[in-house]
Amino acid sequence: MPSEADSARGCSRKLSVVNDVAEAVSGGRISRRIFGQRAVGLLGALAAGSSPLLGQKGGKGTVTRNNLFIPPTVGSTSYTLTAAPGTVDLGGGKLSAAWAYNGHVPGPTFRANNGQSVAVTLLNHLPEETTVHWHGMIVPEAADGHPKDAIASGGSYSYQYTIGQRACLNWYHPHPHMITGMQVALGLAGAFIINDPEESALNLPGGAYEIPLVLRDANIDNAGNLVYNPTSSGFEGKIPLVNGTRDPKLSVDKAIYRFRILNGANARVFRIALGNGAPWVLIGNDGGLLPSVSQVSVIEFSPGERLDVLVDFRTATGSIMLRDLNTGWNLLEFVPTQISVSGSMPTGTLSSITPLSGPSTPTRTFRFEGMSKINGQVYNMDRIDFNVPSGQVERWRFTTGRNAPHPIHVHGASFQVQSRTGGRGVVFPWERGWKDTVLLQDTESVDVLIQFSIPGQYLLHCHKLEHEDMGMMSNFKVT
Ligand code: C2O
Ligand code: CU
Ligand code: CU
Repeated sequence: MPSEADSARGCSRKLSVVNDVAEAVSGGRISRRIFGQRAVGLLGALAAGSSPLLGQKGGKGTVTRNNLFIPPTVGSTSYTLTAAPGTVDLGGGKLSAAWAYNGHVPGPTFRANNGQSVAVTLLNHLPEETTVHWHGMIVPEAADGHPKDAIASGGSYSYQYTIGQRACLNWYHPHPHMITGMQVALGLAGAFIINDPEESALNLPGGAYEIPLVLRDANIDNAGNLVYNPTSSGFEGKIPLVNGTRDPKLSVDKAIYRFRILNGANARVFRIALGNGAPWVLIGNDGGLLPSVSQVSVIEFSPGERLDVLVDFRTATGSIMLRDLNTGWNLLEFVPTQISVSGSMPTGTLSSITPLSGPSTPTRTFRFEGMSKINGQVYNMDRIDFNVPSGQVERWRFTTGRNAPHPIHVHGASFQVQSRTGGRGVVFPWERGWKDTVLLQDTESVDVLIQFSIPGQYLLHCHKLEHEDMGMMSNFKVT
C-alpha cells in the first residue's frame, strides 16, 4: 500500500521498473523503491542508450591516473551540510552528475575532539526525503538519523550532540527508509574523525601525512554520471572509486603515512593489500585504536567497517599500488617524491581497552535470513522488536546460513567481538578492540558483548545497503 510520502515523491516514481526477482522476494512496494531505475532519471541523464559501461575493468592495466581528491576538513560546531544533486569531477576534469554533500563526493571530513559539541544543520535539497546518520557515533535518538526521522525534500534539521567516545574514524551517510542504497551510491557519504588525548600522545602521523581513504565501487553511464542499478543480492559497481576519484594516484613523501580507511561501498567486501608485498601496520578499526600494533598483509573488510593503518614509504623507490585482491583492482597508486621525512613506527601497546565482561551464553540471537529478514521478520519502521536495559552487558549472537556478505551494524553502542564459529572460524586482528560493524560470511556465527548507555530507539541491521533497504533491519529500544 503506497503511503502519502510515496505519492509525494512525484515524477521520479513513474520511472520505476519492477524487478521480478525482487518482487517475489520482498513484495511490490519495496522492490519498486529500490529496484526501479529512477536514479538515472533523477540525475537528468536519461539520454538514449544511457547504460552502465560494461566490460570496463576499473583500475586495471595502464591508465591515466588522476590526483586523489581529499575532501575539505571542517570543524563541527555549527556547520551547514547541504545534500543536493550536483556535478563532481571523478577524475580527468569531466563533470559527472551525482548527489553530494556541499558539492563534494565524499562530503567534507569532520574533525572534532572528544567532549566537543556538534551542531550540524542538514538542508535537504534532494528531490526526496533523507536523514543523516552518524555511523559509529554514540548519540541520542534525536540525532541518530533514524529512518522514522526523515527530513522531507526542501526541509532542514539540526543534528546536535556532544561527542562522548574515544578517538576513531566514524562516518555519515543517509538512512531514509528503503532508499539508503540509492542515495549512498549516488554519492552521499563522508568521514568524521574524532581525536582524543590518548591518541595524540602517540604522535601518529598527522596533517598531510594522515589521509582519509573512502573506498567504494560505482557504475557510471555513457555520459559519465553515477547511476544506481542494484540487484537483490546487492549493488556491485564495475569501477572502484577512492575518495570519489577514478584511477587515483597520490604523491607521497618518503615518510610514514597514516591512512584512515572506510569501506563506503553499498555491498562490496574489499581485501586490501599493498602491491609491493609489505604488510599493513594495523593500529585501529571502527572504534579507534587497537590494544596493540599488528602487521597483516591482507585485510578483508565490509561496508561500514573502518581501518586505521600506517604505511612506511621511507625507503620506497618506485610507486606502490593499493590493491583489492577480490577483484584484482588497482585502487590507488602511491608515487614517492624525493622528500624524506623522519619518523618512527609505533610498536607494541597502543591503547588500553577494558574488556567487557558479560554472559557466556547469548542474551539474544539474531538470524540473518535470505536477503531481507532478521529472525523471520522483515523490517517494520513502526514496530519495536526488543528492549535492552541500559547499562547491562549483553551477549548478542549474529548468525547466518547464506546470502552473505552480511555486514552487521548496531546503532547506539560499540561492541567487542568475542568469537566467530563456522565459515572463516576466527576473530581477525582488525576485529579486536571496539567495533560497530562486523562481517558475517556464509554459515558464520559471531558473538559480541555490547552495553548501551543512552536510552532511546536504535537500529540493528545488515549494512549491505540493498539488504537493509529490503528489510534486514530491526528496531529496538534502550530503556
Ligand atoms: Cu552506516 Cu544504520 O548505518
Ligand atoms: Cu550506524
Ligand atoms: Cu545482508
